[in-house]
Amino acid sequence: MASTSISTRALLDLLGEWRGTGPAFHSLADRIRLLVMDGRLLGGVRLPAERELAAGLGVSRTTITAAYQRLRDDGWATSRQGSGTQTALPGGAVASTALDSTLLDFTKAALAAPTVMMDAVREASSLLPALLPGPGYDTEGLAVLREAIARRYTARGLATDPDEVLVTVGAQQAIALLSRTLVSRGDRALIEVPTYPHAYDALVAAGARLVTGPVSVDTVDGWDVDVFESVLRRTSPTLAYLMPDFQNPTGRSMSVKVRRRILDAAAAQGTIVIADETPAELDIDRPEAYAPLASFANGAHVITIGSASKTMWGGLRVGWIRAERSMIRRLQAVRSNMDLGTPVLDQLIVAELFGHYGDVLAERRAQLASGRDAVERMLGAAFPDWHIPHVAGGLAAWVNIGTPVSSQVALAARSEGLLVTAGPRFGVDGAFERFLRVPITYPPELVERAVAALERAWPVAARLRYTEAPPLASVV
Ligand SMILES: Cc1ncc(COP(=O)(O)O)c(C=O)c1O
Repeated sequence: MASTSISTRALLDLLGEWRGTGPAFHSLADRIRLLVMDGRLLGGVRLPAERELAAGLGVSRTTITAAYQRLRDDGWATSRQGSGTQTALPGGAVASTALDSTLLDFTKAALAAPTVMMDAVREASSLLPALLPGPGYDTEGLAVLREAIARRYTARGLATDPDEVLVTVGAQQAIALLSRTLVSRGDRALIEVPTYPHAYDALVAAGARLVTGPVSVDTVDGWDVDVFESVLRRTSPTLAYLMPDFQNPTGRSMSVKVRRRILDAAAAQGTIVIADETPAELDIDRPEAYAPLASFANGAHVITIGSASKTMWGGLRVGWIRAERSMIRRLQAVRSNMDLGTPVLDQLIVAELFGHYGDVLAERRAQLASGRDAVERMLGAAFPDWHIPHVAGGLAAWVNIGTPVSSQVALAARSEGLLVTAGPRFGVDGAFERFLRVPITYPPELVERAVAALERAWPVAARLRYTEAPPLASVV
């Protein structure tokens, strides 16, 4: 079978910030292994020649030789005379791109459509005829939807005008659009670690050099504010991508004190803060409700991202950016070379759902509470040594499995019918092997199946375990 290959350039883009604190060959091998695990690099892909990759990465050839050897030793690569080194999946595991519908997909932390969905679709379709003479998409967002979004922000304590809202194709496009508009190659961008991996990818694709600040499930504040302040002061990043509410994956929310201190430090450096508030309204029983981060700005430049995907339904592909008018115009201009716009039918449905928002949120709260309680109860009973943090809302629990074998657990779980994302996908350099992100968005019967798959996978993962732990640079 003819094999495909990946160019040095393309691999460099995928590798991003691959260096950890351990030996370079370890970090490089771990990073390539993760790319294969996550399906971003398929099995059977020919890796660049050692000499070329060494030049591209600015490391010695022996580093590449040792990294490739480590991948081969662990079953993540093979080599044949004359055809170089190719990626592989140990034990013939399936790549995540070749999904089988019988697999339970816990890599997505997403909820089914709400009960009122079909009512909203019917109401929206009755409004559609007025829009049929037009093209069916736009780059700004329908006035009726921008008004609904602005009203919601205003009700939550952040006065907003519809002109300060740009409707996008999901929050994911909002992140990519902001990265592309605000980041020039080589600019620094501050991210939380762990973080939402697609944001990390978008920033790297835009050419950002990442600097990091830790968020922990174990500390009182979650965000290590001293580190955030000092990184901001030392590196003056162009932007900071933050998730102040129900941070994905830790589930933590910033207290008022944390919000103020990080925003003050960003303001002092002129760093633009991107507040991704996609999970912000997924509240189960958080003791305190917070207004959007931008309402604490006090001189900081805060741009807010929101989405209908988590509260309403991911299938609607509607997100938005809230920013000052001049920024909205700038983003709209850049957007025109990314896509043609957001479909109007999806926008009408979201506008209708805002009319039932109280009911939608109440339904979400009940579903998330039952998913969270099932995860705590069932996972806790099956794995008494794992640390399952209690989350007050959001999408997932960031579970500490005690031993650095998260990638092995994810791989073994796949063979048991469960797709789950290993901790390192949320890190920068292969860190977080002690963590597994477990969504709380699924009903108890699916949680039960997932936990049973993890119980079968666990002994296999322990056997696949590396003799040496990968570097755990940012884990505290
Ligand atoms: C923090 C965060 N931002 C953005 C997204 C992407 O959202 P969307 O489906 O609206 O593109 C997600 C999805 O999980 C998310 O958790």
